[in-house]
Amino acid sequence: MKDVLDRVDADREESVRRLEEFLRIPSISTDAERAGDVRRAADYLAGVFRESGVKKVEVLPTKGHPIVLAEHLEDPSAPTLLVYGHYDVQPIANRAEWKSDPFVPEIRDGKIWARGATDDKGQLLTHVLAAKAHLDVRGRLPLNVKFLIEGEEEIGSEHLDGFVRENRERLACDAIAISDTAMYSPEIPSICTGLRGIAYTEFTIRCATSDLHSGSFGGAVDNPALVLAHLIAGLKDEETGRVLIDGFYDGIIEPTQDERDRWAELPSPDAKYLEMTGVPALYGERPYPVLERIWARPSLDVNGIWGGFTGKGSMTVLPARASAKVSMRLVPGQSPKDVAKKLEAHLRKHLPKTAVLERFEDLHGGQPWVAELDHPAVQAAFRAVEQGFGKKPVPSREGGSIPIVQLFTETLRAPAVLMGFGLHDEGAHGPDEHFDLGNFLAGIRSAACYFDEFPRAVSRA
Ligand code: BES
Ligand code: ZN
Repeated sequence: MKDVLDRVDADREESVRRLEEFLRIPSISTDAERAGDVRRAADYLAGVFRESGVKKVEVLPTKGHPIVLAEHLEDPSAPTLLVYGHYDVQPIANRAEWKSDPFVPEIRDGKIWARGATDDKGQLLTHVLAAKAHLDVRGRLPLNVKFLIEGEEEIGSEHLDGFVRENRERLACDAIAISDTAMYSPEIPSICTGLRGIAYTEFTIRCATSDLHSGSFGGAVDNPALVLAHLIAGLKDEETGRVLIDGFYDGIIEPTQDERDRWAELPSPDAKYLEMTGVPALYGERPYPVLERIWARPSLDVNGIWGGFTGKGSMTVLPARASAKVSMRLVPGQSPKDVAKKLEAHLRKHLPKTAVLERFEDLHGGQPWVAELDHPAVQAAFRAVEQGFGKKPVPSREGGSIPIVQLFTETLRAPAVLMGFGLHDEGAHGPDEHFDLGNFLAGIRSAACYFDEFPRAVSRA
């Protein structure tokens, strides 16, 4: 592998330049006005695949944003790897909080600063550039690779589900490799062994049929913002942090004792979480330790809450409606549709007769996933990342979600292999997103080694 790894190192600047160009394109999937930019990002990526020597590259339209499918099939008898990633990015909530323009990448302190740097443009490029290094040096790949890079991950992968189900044959593979998660810490690389699922809902409480004068009606008509506040406050037990929705925890599969023991050996994350978040104290479900709360327990959050007058000055209005976005992170044993239904039932049950639940929407969902740790394709990833980083990775889970992963494993009947090169404090979804360029390079090296380790491991098995 020395020839390929030397090439990866020699191409460092060229690789960073490609990442910079990719990051300049504001491919914000949730913003309809950015659809042209999302398309441009897909085309840019297709160009990188072509320049890298990947044989068949297509930008496939969907009812939403396009899918980039790039295939390099060397030998029908060789193992096949499907690499998944996403080229769409999160929006910019508040430009003023960013030190530099989110779509004009800057390099400072060995990191590249831009929206999408770590999530997921920088991470997904590691696999593309690994293929390029192999092809440049050796003229061929030691396996068959199919890259499936979507543009809707950050909005729930709406059109990818159908695509995967309808293209089973074309996507057939021996494993699915993904880099869209984080290392355990800057010093400790990791292989991700679990993701939480998600159920995302939005609802509106109505009292009166239109806004009223709070002097004429206040005191005689209920207030939907207050009703909403009570309902939301009632979703969790204050003492224990447990979710109070009936049946919420039914059927949950606990982590194994072996996993719990391994997690207990990891350096405690508590001080780091305090520092990263700026909270005065940590919070969570008792009696679980922080890692278990994030990795193996479900959670419920209010993502947004609104209603009534929020402009400058004052307005004595008694609003007609108040709304909230509530999402829940799920663990194995829970299903997104079922949990969303249970939340709706809870709201109806506790709604006072002075208000109505005018609207309840199940916006999107994704299933949880756990790795097949003993699978040779997963074990090969530990070896590849060790070679790429010069350090042994640890198995660790993530609290976040990649909705398509479980569907991939079920539909394609192949294990998912998650090697994350990001860090949790790299500002994903927030201001000042960045990606450590040392980890970018080590990521390309790891991906290049995986192209070598994976086919050997699964051919032996
Ligand atoms: N890269 C993340 C997944 C992730 C989150 C990994 C946190 C590690 C830690 C992914 O792009 C993401 O943000 N997914 C969304 C999915 C949702 C919109 C359905 C998430 O988890 O919020
Ligand atoms: Zn991501």
